[in-house]
Amino acid sequence: MSHTTPLTEEHAQALDAADQLAGFRDRFYVPEGTVYLDGNSLGLLSRDAERTALAALEHWKTLGIDGWMRAEPDWFTIGERLGAAMAGLVGAEPDEVVVTGGTTVNLHALVSTFYAPRDGRRAILATELDFPSDVYALQSQIALRGGDPERDLRRVASRDGRTVEEDDLIAAMLDEVALVLLPSVFYRSGQLLDMERLTAAAHERGIVIGFDCAHSAGVVPHELSRWGVDFAVWCSYKYLNAGPGAVGALYVNRRHAGLRPALSGWWGYDKSRQFDMVHAWEGAGGAGAWQIGTPPILATAPLIGALEVHAEAGISRIREKSLSQTAYLIDLIEGSGLTGADYGYAVGTPAETSRRGGHVAVEHASAARVARALKARGVVPDFRAPNVIRLAPIPLYTSYAEIWRAVEALRDVIDAGEHLTGDDRRELVA
Ligand SMILES: Cc1ncc(COP(=O)(O)O)c(C=O)c1O
Repeated sequence: MSHTTPLTEEHAQALDAADQLAGFRDRFYVPEGTVYLDGNSLGLLSRDAERTALAALEHWKTLGIDGWMRAEPDWFTIGERLGAAMAGLVGAEPDEVVVTGGTTVNLHALVSTFYAPRDGRRAILATELDFPSDVYALQSQIALRGGDPERDLRRVASRDGRTVEEDDLIAAMLDEVALVLLPSVFYRSGQLLDMERLTAAAHERGIVIGFDCAHSAGVVPHELSRWGVDFAVWCSYKYLNAGPGAVGALYVNRRHAGLRPALSGWWGYDKSRQFDMVHAWEGAGGAGAWQIGTPPILATAPLIGALEVHAEAGISRIREKSLSQTAYLIDLIEGSGLTGADYGYAVGTPAETSRRGGHVAVEHASAARVARALKARGVVPDFRAPNVIRLAPIPLYTSYAEIWRAVEALRDVIDAGEHLTGDDRRELVA
């Protein structure tokens, strides 16, 4: 697409008519009367996820304790099975992924294992645009090892406040760096990092590298194994549509299989002998070893159905449509003059497809007010202080006509002066 993209609603409808994935929308519960563009925070419920969630309750109701082995799929190996089902989404071998924990918890489990500070190599490399939870986790991991978070956590600066250059990250991979932890996609701007290049650069320098893929899993394909990434974590409540607080996932490259997790628990034990209850550690072979305790079955079950929908659509078609929809959104915003002085919007997401994740960051000086006004008009965005309105067209359920309507709403909010009045603070959960 380009700035010659037609700005008409008819064009949006024509794009919908040609969309191969359009049929998937009927599988989802889209809240009545809304254009839901917040699936990068909380994806919507599909009928498939609902079915498998209800099935888990039914298994509990009818099987009681026997659900651990007789539920379908059995609860005992659910983390490994869903990990295997998810592996293709991130380009991993089935035993390199396990569904367990949550993004921050898994980060602790993996950083505590892979961060090996030693004389002259104590630093962890991150960026100043990282999601705060990752930074808190890294600070506390450094402190746990007797380090000084102020000194040992190196946060690479952004040149423009939106993005971080791969060149700057590589230049910061100095001899004193023991571990690099980066987001695949920055949560504010939606910039996608070149994970392959960064992994190669880290390994050339003898540095372990992991990624937080919370904003890319399920919308951007990965090749974690081929790139040789050491470890990764992500959640399943955003693009994977498994529900609020649903269980997350982690990836550990096969070359680390057999390593003793720093935070061990019985769920990471060799499955065939877990119930021998012996005290000598015998870890599961693959990523499963990084599980800690009993899986939350009711927060895992929706993921079974959610992954079925994803598998049917296929990650490459999802990525293709996502790129087409984010390009369309950017073109409409720029093509209809919203980035001019009269409207005051700016697009903070990189234009190049290779640097763009699944959402578009629309910036405005009164972003909190604009986000509130959009919501009042039935367009559900996501505000990130101080000036970003994130809009995420979700390939499985967002139509081009809805994107068109959202851009109309961006214009109407300013035309009506709604950015000038009302509360300009964020909500408690924003
Ligand atoms: C990039 C990123 N990392 C980490 C987290 C924290 O995830 P959790 O609360 O599941 O640990 C989030 C949450 O939205 C996130 O977007």
